[in-house]
Amino acid sequence: MFASLFVVILGLCFCSKQSSQSVLGRPELRGPSEVLVREVVEFQCELKIYPENETILLQLFKEGNRDKLLGEYSSLNGEVAIMPVVIKPFHEGNLECVAKAQNNSKIEPTVSYTHYLKVVEPVKGAEVVFQSDSVDLFEGQTLELHCQLTAGNHVSYKWLLNGQLVPQSPRHYAANGNLFVYSTTSQDSGSYMCVATNHFNKTNIFTSNSSDVITVKDLVSIPNISLTVIKVTSPLTDSDNYSAEVTCQSSKGTPPIIFSLYNGTELFANVRAEERTTTFKVPLVLGQHLGWLQCQAENGDRIEFSQRIPLEVVPVGGPVMMHYDYDIGENYAVIGLRFYCEAAKGSLPRYQWFLNKTLLHDRGSFYYVVNKPPEQSILLLSVGRSSAGTYHCEVSDSFDNITAITSNRLYLDKEVLNRLPNLVVAVVFGCFTFLVVLVSICCCVGAIFRRRQYGEKSMLSLEMKGISAYKGELDLSEYNEDAEIVNMARGDAFDQASQVSSDE
Ligand SMILES: *[C@@H]1O[C@H](CO)[C@@H](O)[C@H](O)[C@H]1NC(C)=O
Ligand SMILES: *[C@@H]1O[C@H](CO)[C@@H](O)[C@H](O)[C@H]1NC(C)=O
Ligand SMILES: *[C@@H]1O[C@H](CO)[C@@H](O)[C@H](O)[C@H]1NC(C)=O
Ligand SMILES: *[C@@H]1O[C@H](CO)[C@@H](O)[C@H](O)[C@H]1NC(C)=O
Ligand SMILES: *[C@@H]1O[C@H](CO)[C@@H](O)[C@H](O)[C@H]1NC(C)=O
Ligand SMILES: *[C@@H]1O[C@H](CO)[C@@H](O)[C@H](O)[C@H]1NC(C)=O
Ligand SMILES: *[C@@H]1O[C@H](CO)[C@@H](O)[C@H](O)[C@H]1NC(C)=O
Ligand SMILES: *[C@@H]1O[C@H](CO)[C@@H](O)[C@H](O)[C@H]1NC(C)=O
Repeated sequence: MFASLFVVILGLCFCSKQSSQSVLGRPELRGPSEVLVREVVEFQCELKIYPENETILLQLFKEGNRDKLLGEYSSLNGEVAIMPVVIKPFHEGNLECVAKAQNNSKIEPTVSYTHYLKVVEPVKGAEVVFQSDSVDLFEGQTLELHCQLTAGNHVSYKWLLNGQLVPQSPRHYAANGNLFVYSTTSQDSGSYMCVATNHFNKTNIFTSNSSDVITVKDLVSIPNISLTVIKVTSPLTDSDNYSAEVTCQSSKGTPPIIFSLYNGTELFANVRAEERTTTFKVPLVLGQHLGWLQCQAENGDRIEFSQRIPLEVVPVGGPVMMHYDYDIGENYAVIGLRFYCEAAKGSLPRYQWFLNKTLLHDRGSFYYVVNKPPEQSILLLSVGRSSAGTYHCEVSDSFDNITAITSNRLYLDKEVLNRLPNLVVAVVFGCFTFLVVLVSICCCVGAIFRRRQYGEKSMLSLEMKGISAYKGELDLSEYNEDAEIVNMARGDAFDQASQVSSDE
């Protein structure tokens, strides 16, 4: 116990004795804590305790890297070491000052506490980089943008779309100068700007920004297929030549779109269209079925098919029928009238309406035309003075109006029309009267017949033995039927019949 205490005391005495002669104190490193890159700044390293008549070397290093010397100073009589440094980005970090006796390896080197240095490099040369495997970005895909800088550290990024901060949503993710927009739609198109910012000493702010226009392309929608016919009359032979113009059209989709026309499963033609529509010319023979046509539209990696339509054009054929119905207002007056025009056949008919042989256009003061090709055309009329006259319709092929087929003609005015309900009433009344008369006759005949049959019944039953059972059943059913008619027709007749049966 005493022995160890003695050793400690001895050691302390030895130390304090040596400190005045050959012991280095801990150097003190001073300097700015935040600097701009390329600036020249001075670091000071001061040694308060040092041995006399020894050259002391003070060196500046980054913590943990003694290979790279950042600054050096030889101090003889404890003067403060001043080490100027041209700041580079790699200077950032924990710096330390190492003191050691130059020619005396017996003296242990000492190290200062670390001093943290932040090096700020102003941002420069921002650029938005669109990162994608393909050139185009289609809806549903992920948009990935990167904000690339030529210089700058300690940077914070901001993303703007058309001048507005990119919204925070589960579809948007921004980190480390990257922006991700998931499940894009065409509404994500626009000018994307990245704003890179850093600052020095809280007062100097550096920004660099850049923008790029990004277009999210629409995938093509299901195309529509339609067909028109073109007639070409050859001037030499004076013969008619027909061809079909097949139109494929998508309502959505960013061009270019590749349209293909199929005849059944066989490719007829394809074209790369800069619009959302294209036409194919297909040879045609009227009245013949030449296959089934189908459009295919493709952009991005989406392929859509239209419905199939038959390549068969039947010319218009008669008869052309015109009929009508009407609406009745108050006082049983006809107020609105609808004419219908229909041709017996024809794939691409064109309907025309005429009043007093003058053509009625799509709409006028008292009418308008509703076409429902190819089935029919409807002419809607409001009944008045101006709508009086003779009506008819004509149907021709939409591609060849030379051979028009005319319908029956019908004269109509307010008086004619308003007589119509009277006529209907007359017909209904007439029918009713007729029915009453018919029923009465039936009753009378039935009653008389039954009387006679009842009188003859005994004789008939004798005869029936000789006749087949089937015939007997038949007669019986006839008998029952008669009874039913009578029952239904009049109450008194029923009473009569029940009387008869009770008599039986
Ligand atoms: C240091 O050197 C000076 C003269 O050069 C001398 O006078 C002095 O005694 C020396 N000190 C020690 C501790 O050696
Ligand atoms: C220290 O040693 C170097 C050679 O290692 C020599 O040139 C220098 O003169 C010496 N300085 C002192 C003070 O002894
Ligand atoms: C940093 O700002 C402080 C005041 O906020 C100022 O005293 C100091 O000089 C500035 N340093 C530099 C290097 O500009
Ligand atoms: C982008 O930088 C330009 C100068 O390069 C500046 O005029 C503009 O205000 C900046 N825009 C934004 C949003 O920071
Ligand atoms: C019809 O026209 C096509 C070209 O448009 C031509 O090749 C063909 O020979 C013509 N047919 C007739 C019968 O004129
Ligand atoms: C379509 O294909 C059928 C056979 O599948 C053929 O008979 C017809 O001529 C073709 N039509 C056209 C327009 O090529
Ligand atoms: C059509 O002709 C009839 C006479 O036939 C005439 O009463 C009517 O006003 C004419 N209608 C029109 C619209 O010209
Ligand atoms: C037939 O149609 C052509 C244009 O499609 C038109 O110029 C011509 O007047 C029409 N002829 C008849 C009789 O309607």
